[in-house]
Amino acid sequence: MQPGVKIAIGGKGGVGKTTVCAVWAHLFAEDDLDVLAIDADSDPNLASALGVAVDETPEPLIEMKELIGQRTGARPGAVGQYFKLNPKVSDLPEKYWHKINGIRLLVLGATKNAGAGCACPESAFLKALLTHVILQRSEAILVDLAAGLEFMGRACVQGVDGLVVVVEPGARSIETAVNIARMGREMGIEHVAAFANKVTDVGQIDIIRSQLVDIPVLGSFRLDAALQVADLKRLGVMSTSDELVGELQKAKDAMVNLFFKDRVLG
Ligand SMILES: Nc1ncnc2c1ncn2[C@@H]1O[C@H](COP(=O)(O)OP(=O)(O)O)[C@@H](O)[C@H]1O
Ligand SMILES: [Mg+2]
Repeated sequence: MQPGVKIAIGGKGGVGKTTVCAVWAHLFAEDDLDVLAIDADSDPNLASALGVAVDETPEPLIEMKELIGQRTGARPGAVGQYFKLNPKVSDLPEKYWHKINGIRLLVLGATKNAGAGCACPESAFLKALLTHVILQRSEAILVDLAAGLEFMGRACVQGVDGLVVVVEPGARSIETAVNIARMGREMGIEHVAAFANKVTDVGQIDIIRSQLVDIPVLGSFRLDAALQVADLKRLGVMSTSDELVGELQKAKDAMVNLFFKDRVLG
């Protein structure tokens, strides 16, 4: 199978993961790659960032209790039942993805009780589906994560080419990024890098770089009120700011150089 581009995007809530994921999904699609964007956040809004109208927002697969019940053999929400840890999921991407501007969007959602991932049918189902997509599909895959890698099994994490942590100037966001990066490396992700967002002063980039120590910073973007306004109006990220797209194009080039230097993509 053609090795695709498989990138996971993590970071503290609100730093800009979904924004970065949506812009990169468009940019990889512009490179003529088949792009599969996965929303694996418990508060899924990648569809909105990609410009999907509110009445067309796909239902997250985690909400599809009947489907999960059929596939796992157990009723979601009920405790003390046996369920399949390896439910059949290979037919689901084509059935449930939503096509928008040449991008395939699959909205998984995530269980809200974070931590090590619960031992419940929903969690087994999502893990199986994400693992299937990462290991078996050949598209360029971008995963918008809840925060970290808690929901991904080891095999799934190891199938990812690289992890990009988004950070904003702030100790808590940097701490989260460092922790996610450490977890990713411990689980076997080869490449980890960062993107600095919502920067208000160039000096902050140096501080972020020094605190991220050995995590390379691919690029940065300033705090820009236009993005908040666009979010409020539910406008897709590509039409919001050419400057954002330009900076994320540069960061994407840097990422491709770093993660795929010996590989021809496409
Ligand atoms: N550089 C920026 N300047 C101002 N607002 C931003 C910037 N990047 C993202 N935002 C806004 O911040 C909010 C959170 O961004 P989002 O991409 O949804 O973050 P996450 O997915 O990490 O929670 C959104 O309203 C988004 O439009
Ligand atoms: Mg998000």
